[in-house]
This record gives sequence, structure tokens and C-alpha cells, in this order.
Amino acid sequence: MTETEHLQPRFTTDNLLSLQTHILAEEKAHPGATGDFSWLLSAISLAAKTIANKVRRARIENVLGDHGDRNIHGEAQQKLDVISNEIILRCLGDRANVAVLASEEDDAPVVLRSRGAGGRYAVLFDPLDGSSNVDYSVGVGTIFSILQVDSGPVQSSYLQPGVRQKAAGYILYGSSVVFVLTTGNGVNMFVLDQSIGAFVRVASKIRMPERSKIYSVNEAYRDSFPKGYRDYLDFAHANGYSSRYIGSMVADVHRTLLKGGVFLYPPTGTHAGGKLRLMYEANPMAWIMEQAGGRACAGRDRILDIAPTDLHERTSVVMGSAGEVDEVLRHL
Ligand code: AHG
Ligand code: MN
Ligand code: MN
Repeated sequence: MTETEHLQPRFTTDNLLSLQTHILAEEKAHPGATGDFSWLLSAISLAAKTIANKVRRARIENVLGDHGDRNIHGEAQQKLDVISNEIILRCLGDRANVAVLASEEDDAPVVLRSRGAGGRYAVLFDPLDGSSNVDYSVGVGTIFSILQVDSGPVQSSYLQPGVRQKAAGYILYGSSVVFVLTTGNGVNMFVLDQSIGAFVRVASKIRMPERSKIYSVNEAYRDSFPKGYRDYLDFAHANGYSSRYIGSMVADVHRTLLKGGVFLYPPTGTHAGGKLRLMYEANPMAWIMEQAGGRACAGRDRILDIAPTDLHERTSVVMGSAGEVDEVLRHL
């Protein structure tokens, strides 16, 4: 037997390329990586499996509906928003290199430790995206963005443009539990194999179709969109496009990643600056789109270049296949 012959499967066909194995291999690709990165992602993986279980059992455990409070955005928190948020805080809270945890559901970020005490990363997240859909078994998800916090007061150190992200991704709790991740080396997709309780890699270096006649927008707000967006919709209607809108960003973006097309949330009457949150919705998704060969814009600006001033600031988004985003921009 040659030294690598024993690595070639002869009797088994199981996919053993777990998320953990992938992350450790990626660590090797990052010169100077200290291994603490994989600790973070394994904590997110644990949180994802726990949230997936909660979402699946929501109606059984009777944790549907409103929690009774409102978040900083004035949105009624669903019970599962609060439960998911707590699960992530508990999984990440004891990882020694986390400096800041910043959540859509918490007004202020949780500052866990200074750099001096070993805090190196800020993890920003939307614990449950699309939560208004969760009572109806429609796909919902978790979105996360990881930044390194090496300078400045740790309280505001996470206010960095999206280009500075070290990792970004989402977990979609849909017909299967899908974990999509980028660390700057392409987009990789994992599916939770329930029989062994591990995420296994099912696609790597995903490339989005350059063009695809699918647009995804809430057309109920069409009349309050700026004119250019309405002109684009007229173009799409006249050119045989189909419309797909789930109302959970994670599900709409995941379909766009795999099938192509464009996902839009333009400025509206109620959200003149757009509805989606820059730091933990638009930025992570924008990086995923670009890493898969797509584009992600706020009006004519590149989302990843936006210099944030507030953790909870919002932005409009146009993201998806490069050719489809360009088509929208042509009308703006
Ligand atoms: P969240 O549930 O985290 O508040 O996010 C909901 C967001 C996003 O998931 C989705 O794309 C968008 O809200 C849908 O907004 P509309 O219902 O206004 O279309
Ligand atoms: Mn969300
Ligand atoms: Mn949310």
C-alpha cells in the first residue's frame, strides 16, 4: 500500500468532508492563522444545529408568535428571535477570542473582553432572519459576519466596511439545513446530515449564473420605489422575467446564489434608506454574492464599500448575478 492509498475509499461512499474539516483546511490556507478562527465557526455551527432543532419543533414546543417586546427597530420580536439570539450568545460567549457580539435583537452590542484580554473578533448577526415567516414553516435563517477588532475602542471597533469581513455566511432552515460560508476564498455550501449531526460539504467555489431572468422584490411597495426601479420592473415584465419572493432574505438570496437573478429591496415610502440592515444582513450577503461572481449594490454604490456609522443602520440592496444587477443599474 502506498502511503496515501489508505485514504482512497474502497468500501464506503459516505461524505466525510465536514464543515470542521473544511475550516481546518482553510486555516492552513491562511498564513499565520492561529486556529482560533475555527473555534468561532464551530460555535456558529453548534448554534445553527440548535436553532434548526428549535425551528423544527416550534409548534410542538409552542414557541410561535410574539415574544411581547420590540427590538430597536420597533419590530415585534418573535419568541424564536429571542430564543435564537440567546442560543448564539451562549455558543459564542465562551469562545476566548470573541471581543464583541452584536445582534439585530440587542440595542447595544455585548462587549465580552478587550483585546488585552484576548478579544480578537466581533461577530455580528441576525439570529433569525425572516422570522415573520417562521409560524408557517417557510424558510428562515441566521446570517453572520465576522470582523477582526484590532484597533480603536472595542465598543465601536466593529464599525468597519464590509470589505474588511474575515468570514460571512448564513444558515437556511429550509427543506434542508444549509450552511453557506465564505472566508474570502470562494463560497462553500454544507448541508446538515441529520443522521450524523454534522454539516458536510456539498459544493465548493460556487459560481452564480451571469444572467437569469428572475427578479425578487416585494412588489406591494412598487408605487413608492424611486422611478428607476419602477422602470426596471417594466423592463422585466416586458422581457419574460419570472418573479420569486419568499420574504426571508436568506431564502431569496440562497435561491439567487444557486439559480441566479437579482434580489432587490429598494428605498420605499416607509424605509427611504432601504429596510435591510447593513452590518448583519447586507454586508455578509454582499460578500457571498461577490465571492460567487455576482454583484451587490446600494443604488449605484458597492455595498461592501459603505462606511458604517451605526450598528443598526439600514441600506437598500440590489444583489445577484452581475449581468442582472447591471441591468437594474442601467435603469436607475
Ligand atoms: P428579519 O426577520 O430578520 O427582521 O428580516 C426580515 C427582512 C428580510 O428577511 C426580508 O427580505 C425582508 O425583511 C422582507 O421585508 P418585507 O416583508 O417588507 O418584504
Ligand atoms: Mn433579517
Ligand atoms: Mn431577524
